[in-house]
Amino acid sequence: MSGQRVCVSDFEEEARRVLPKAVYDYYRSGADEQRTLADNAAAFNRWYLIPRVLRNVSVVDLSVDVLGQKLSMPLCVAATAMQRMAHPEGETATARACRAVGTGMMLSSWATSTIEEVMSAMTSSASPGGVLWMQLYIYKDRDLTLSLVRRAEEAGYKAIFLTVDTPYLGRRWDDMRNQFKLPPHLSMSNFSTATLAFSEGNYGNDSGLAVYVAKAIDPSLCWDDITWLKKHTRLPVILKGILNGEDAVQAVNYGVDGILVSNHGARQLDGVPATLDVLEEVVRAVQGRCDVFLDGGVRRGTDVLKALALGAKAVFIGRPVLWGLACQGEQGVTELLELMKEELRLAMALTFHVVHICSNYSHILWDIR
Ligand code: FNR
Repeated sequence: MSGQRVCVSDFEEEARRVLPKAVYDYYRSGADEQRTLADNAAAFNRWYLIPRVLRNVSVVDLSVDVLGQKLSMPLCVAATAMQRMAHPEGETATARACRAVGTGMMLSSWATSTIEEVMSAMTSSASPGGVLWMQLYIYKDRDLTLSLVRRAEEAGYKAIFLTVDTPYLGRRWDDMRNQFKLPPHLSMSNFSTATLAFSEGNYGNDSGLAVYVAKAIDPSLCWDDITWLKKHTRLPVILKGILNGEDAVQAVNYGVDGILVSNHGARQLDGVPATLDVLEEVVRAVQGRCDVFLDGGVRRGTDVLKALALGAKAVFIGRPVLWGLACQGEQGVTELLELMKEELRLAMALTFHVVHICSNYSHILWDIR
């Protein structure tokens, strides 16, 4: 290990040095000119935390109930595909780290470890906590899609996060230039054919993943498919990729159990808003009828606190976990999650109010429990 890592960017810097360029590019990139990528992070800087003093903050309880499961903190791990490119233990290392810290992990449909392997990594460790949720892409082959749901249910996953922002893959210029594909020793482990496992040798002159999505993922997905999915699973269904109040209301009317405000880490369409900028609209539209979560650009404990103050029940991080994995596998992810947890604890203890610099000082109260 090089020098002490004191913030998320230290992890990213170290990961950039150890990862092959095409892997780092795939993990880091956003779509097109990456303006939304920058804005996801910048949006957090448009808010300030106004501290209140003399309030006895000797005990700060970070624990939260997410979809019926108690977590040690309102910061969870978002689905990121193909984690074994970052570290040989990939998703299983991430699961063990989540268990050690007592938080939740959303497993990608495109994992390089199987649904069952990751559950067994999560449950075999001696630590007490941790929850697994399944991220789902809907394939053109609906039986295949339902087989992923069945396997997740049988293995003990606690919810389905259905990704609704990827009928096609966004244009990620680095991946196009690198003709991104998996290294030959890896595959998307939940599938048995080379075509579905993203392990065909040649994807032509393009991002291999964009070719894969165009071939396999169902772009005809529409609202009735939410009814279809809910009919086929007893697990809570959360829509991942909602960015406005109208879709949020529609989602609630279709009976979803939660909404994840997400722009896919700015990897789909450049020019969509930063997630933090639309969070309040979604929270207002939903009117408490389901929980609202957020991901995108969360890099500090203060970012988490701002999202919570604006109405998120919990937030998710994607890339930082990959940086932790690349630095030091399970230990790296554990260290990263502990670091952000401590940042959040401190932010909660040192503050009380959040004020938007662009609005007319609309005060939003964050109450320390
Ligand atoms: C993702 N994301 C993602 N989402 C999803 O639903 N299924 C997936 O397989 C993936 N894979 C994936 C890979 C990589 C490398 C990244 C960076 C992201 C999106 C992810 O779940 C989440 O929405 C964002 O990563 C959140 O933004 P930050 O925290 O990375 O800024």
